[in-house]
Amino acid sequence: MRFIFSSVLAAVSLLPSIASSIVVGPQPGTFSNVTVFTPPSNYTIPRTLYARTLLLNQNCEYDNVLLATWENYSPEPPYFPIFRSTDLGRTWTEYSRVTDQVNGWGLRYQPFLYELPSKIGSFPAGTVLLSGNSIPADLSQTQIELYASLDKGKTWKFVSHIAHGGRAIPNNGETPVWEPFLMMWQGKMIVYYSDQRDAKHGQKLVHQISNDLLTWEDPVDDVAYSTYDDRPGMTTVAEMTFGQYIMTYEFWGAPEAGFAVYYRISQDPTNFNASVGYPLIATDGTVPVSSPYIVWSPAGGSLGTLVVSSGSGPEVYLNHNLGAPGAWTKVNTPESTSYTRSLRVMPGESNILIVGGGILSGPNNSVTATTIDITPISPSLAKCGGL
Ligand SMILES: *[C@@H]1O[C@H](CO)[C@@H](O)[C@H](O)[C@H]1NC(C)=O
Ligand SMILES: *[C@@H]1O[C@H](CO)[C@@H](O)[C@H](O)[C@H]1NC(C)=O
Ligand SMILES: *[C@@H]1O[C@H](CO)[C@@H](O)[C@H](O)[C@H]1NC(C)=O
Ligand SMILES: *[C@@H]1O[C@H](CO)[C@@H](O)[C@H](O)[C@H]1NC(C)=O
Repeated sequence: MRFIFSSVLAAVSLLPSIASSIVVGPQPGTFSNVTVFTPPSNYTIPRTLYARTLLLNQNCEYDNVLLATWENYSPEPPYFPIFRSTDLGRTWTEYSRVTDQVNGWGLRYQPFLYELPSKIGSFPAGTVLLSGNSIPADLSQTQIELYASLDKGKTWKFVSHIAHGGRAIPNNGETPVWEPFLMMWQGKMIVYYSDQRDAKHGQKLVHQISNDLLTWEDPVDDVAYSTYDDRPGMTTVAEMTFGQYIMTYEFWGAPEAGFAVYYRISQDPTNFNASVGYPLIATDGTVPVSSPYIVWSPAGGSLGTLVVSSGSGPEVYLNHNLGAPGAWTKVNTPESTSYTRSLRVMPGESNILIVGGGILSGPNNSVTATTIDITPISPSLAKCGGL
């Protein structure tokens, strides 16, 4: 592990360091703390959580339309709301609701939105997908589902059951499945998720593959530690330049901190199991913890910029060296801390949209949105008061 660390660092040390000139936050063209949704008082606390977004870009007519969804603790049965913004995130209105069409349980936890970049099975490029966890009110089962919209999020149809698990309780010895994340690769759909069904692991991370969105191959391990009590969770994946992929996860059991944010890099996003896991440690020593989300943008440097959010603060962590350990800088943002904020690279690639749904057990949660500019401001401009 140490050998790989130093060889990665050696390989990137010739690259120019621009991290010290990074300023993010309120800047021309960005906005902060926009309210997407304020839940009514008849919602159960935490009312909202786990916000996710999608930027449509496959059909010109709908390009740059944003969709958002979240865990929505409405009167039973819960559903996933679809809110829409046609002004790049400044204003939002309810557009549709994704309701449980098959189980009679509701759609309760961990929604994820994805737009097909190319055709798969009978689903054309531009189809909007939603995966999430259908769970009955008594939390007795977990069922990761797939729904599709052929009209950009207005109407929804059930597509397939992906993975079924036991009670929706995050304790070792229980057998739920959690937290789907979709990504197409080489014409196939990958769904990553957290899996407590293997008796050898309190929780592990797996993926399944589909060629048609209707049937799914068996789960394959992505992160599975030999210590039973270790709980890697909450996969997100981003494609970087040079055909490389990076996944983040939280790692209960990490030596650095409980739920430390970890990451793995691979040319093959179906084989993260073969990659080394690195803790994300910022240059100031901060170890972010819990519920990470990662994106990569081509902006901000010759190798682009990785941006990671975590559940432990309002900051994001930037890396201009394709994830090299030791090259993560912590930068503040005006978006408040949330459990698993989502990130989205906006048109033009220098702005990142951050959407949060509030904190675990939060009595006053709402869904809020902020954009930050990740492109460096040159020291001379910054010195003279910015742009
Ligand atoms: C919950 O409150 C909203 C807004 O006040 C209201 O429209 C809705 O009918 C209420 N739902 C239930 C089931 O009480
Ligand atoms: C995953 O990696 C572990 C540790 O290197 C190895 O023991 C295991 O066989 C791998 N699992 C798969 C499915 O490749
Ligand atoms: C965001 O806006 C809400 C409502 O206007 C306000 O209560 C809250 O303090 C703001 N949060 C931040 C971090 O500015
Ligand atoms: C929630 O809002 C209430 C009413 O505004 C306030 O008294 C309370 O301190 C808030 N709680 C938290 C944890 O922010």
